[in-house]
Amino acid sequence: WPVHAPYVYWINKLKKERDATILAHNYQTPEIYHCVSDIAGDSLQLAMEATRVKEQVIIQCGVHFMAETSKLLNPDKTVLIPDMRAGCSLAESITGEDVRLLREANPGVPIVTYVNTSADVKAESDICCTSSNAVAVVESFGVDTVLLIPDEYLAQNVAKETDVKILTWKGHCEVHERFTAEELLAYREADPEIQIIAHPECPTEVTAIADFTGSTKGMIDYAVGQKPGAKVLLVTECSMASNIQEQAPGVEFIKPCNLCPHMKRITLPRILDSLLEMKEEVLVDPTMAAKARQAVERMVNLKN
Ligand code: 13P
Ligand code: SF4
Repeated sequence: WPVHAPYVYWINKLKKERDATILAHNYQTPEIYHCVSDIAGDSLQLAMEATRVKEQVIIQCGVHFMAETSKLLNPDKTVLIPDMRAGCSLAESITGEDVRLLREANPGVPIVTYVNTSADVKAESDICCTSSNAVAVVESFGVDTVLLIPDEYLAQNVAKETDVKILTWKGHCEVHERFTAEELLAYREADPEIQIIAHPECPTEVTAIADFTGSTKGMIDYAVGQKPGAKVLLVTECSMASNIQEQAPGVEFIKPCNLCPHMKRITLPRILDSLLEMKEEVLVDPTMAAKARQAVERMVNLKN
């Protein structure tokens, strides 16, 4: 940690001078999560918090779609991302044109888009969802069939919890798709007491083995609620276990380590550069932004 200290000092100092706030996703490294972020959370928490930001500048420590969501909700603020290349395999899996074609092929079927998508895709959707609220969003239409795109595994996991028929797309998270049932069963065989908690971007054969499946916030709440001495296997990006160890001092975290290369592009030196040079600014075409904002706001308002 001493190696981080100068960066932490200058980032926190410049943050005030620039009237900036740092929003960090739960997958950011511990030095970002604990030492410089003002708000840390899952995608839904970050979207909700983005609506309440008082500062003029938002530094999004997460991936590009998260920064875009903050910009949609704060068109008059400056939204910066420390590395413009921080993408997401789910966001890359689908375009706005794909959504238009899906709508043509499925007339009258509501389109729910996971927030892990570009503004272009959100603009073509009826409403957004995150892994925290996907079941509630799908059921909010009161219809038999809904398109939930682009994460095939999230859609399959949601389908297990609702009577609504879910149509989907073939997008996958490159981090969560790598977990296998075999590896989890081997952990359980080695220690039958182990609590396995998984993110719903994992394949259904993985979530079928898990004791709990939920968003990163849901996973944190479940893990922190375990008794001292509990062993918890977090089936997700592995920075999260390091971030929450302090909140659950008696819990032993077992981390089959899959890192998100996009989240890991965000580093303290890059955050400092962002603040020094006010880069890299996330902009969205205003016409597209107006449509995309509606889809995000419908989701945020549903939660309230
Ligand atoms: P959460 O909304 O659960 O934080 O998930 C975001 C994400 O990108 C998971 O891979
Ligand atoms: Fe995208 Fe997966 Fe990385 Fe989350 S973990 S940002 S879904 S690639």
